[in-house]
Amino acid sequence: MKYAILVIGACGQLGTELTRALRKKHGWKSVIAADIHPAMDAEGLYVQLDVFNKKKLAYIIAHRGVKQLYHLAAVLSALGEQNPAKAWDVNMQGLLNVLEVAKENKVWQVFWPSSIAVFDKNGELNPSTVYGISKAAGEYWCRYYFEKHGLDVRSLRYPGLISHRAKPGGGTTDYAVEIFHEAVNKGSYDCFLNRKSTLPMMYMPDAVRAALELMDAPAASISVRTAYNLAAMSFSPQELATEIKRHLPDFEMACNPDFSQAIANNWPVSVSDYRARRDWGWQEEYDIARMTEDMLVNLGQKELC
Ligand code: SER
Repeated sequence: MKYAILVIGACGQLGTELTRALRKKHGWKSVIAADIHPAMDAEGLYVQLDVFNKKKLAYIIAHRGVKQLYHLAAVLSALGEQNPAKAWDVNMQGLLNVLEVAKENKVWQVFWPSSIAVFDKNGELNPSTVYGISKAAGEYWCRYYFEKHGLDVRSLRYPGLISHRAKPGGGTTDYAVEIFHEAVNKGSYDCFLNRKSTLPMMYMPDAVRAALELMDAPAASISVRTAYNLAAMSFSPQELATEIKRHLPDFEMACNPDFSQAIANNWPVSVSDYRARRDWGWQEEYDIARMTEDMLVNLGQKELC
């Protein structure tokens, strides 16, 4: 491969795993990791980048021959409600900067994650958080750049993502990651959502593979230029705790809902992703049982068979 791939937000929950997967697929020298942090604790090319610095972004793209770009930097839903102006700025201006610089520098493809946060509880496009509003508006900007400028931007509405490497920060679905760490380290977890709060979720290997498969799909097969719904499983804190208890029988969960509960109450229990399945063959591999087992193996609590 002669061109470079740039991952912005490479130190985040999704970025950490997507960068690894892209390096495995395309080679270590082809993938540049970028994040706002001074240095990344990993091998491979890394540049410090603030998404507000358009000049530096343009320089990296032009000088490194970047043709594919993953823009993952964002302020998540719960944290965004603490500082709406900042969340809007990072999420919206960051995306606009990336789209504009990608267009000017003739980047071939851009990936940008959207979220179930664009929906209300009935599954209508009706966001209730700054994060959700920025994702909904961002989706239309992605389509705009595709239609007006021919920039091949592709997007997925991710459910809550669960992973064992980098932790998420500031999301409403973060409980589903925290619960594993606390189960392993403390044997108990104090959940910030109520027991019955069912939300759409996905295990990270599926989330990464979905992004790679979407980006590999022929342009002609992409019928959704805002963002594709994407689904794998739905569960509540109680269902996840029960699953964890199968492996760690002494595990206990208490629930003390905080302000995140109101956000969760406005999100759908599940989404229909038939377009992703029809257009580019999406198929999840992990359900709650398989994910739980894999999480515990990777967090060192279960022997690999
Ligand atoms: N996981 C995200 C959040 O909870 C939703 O995309 O904010």
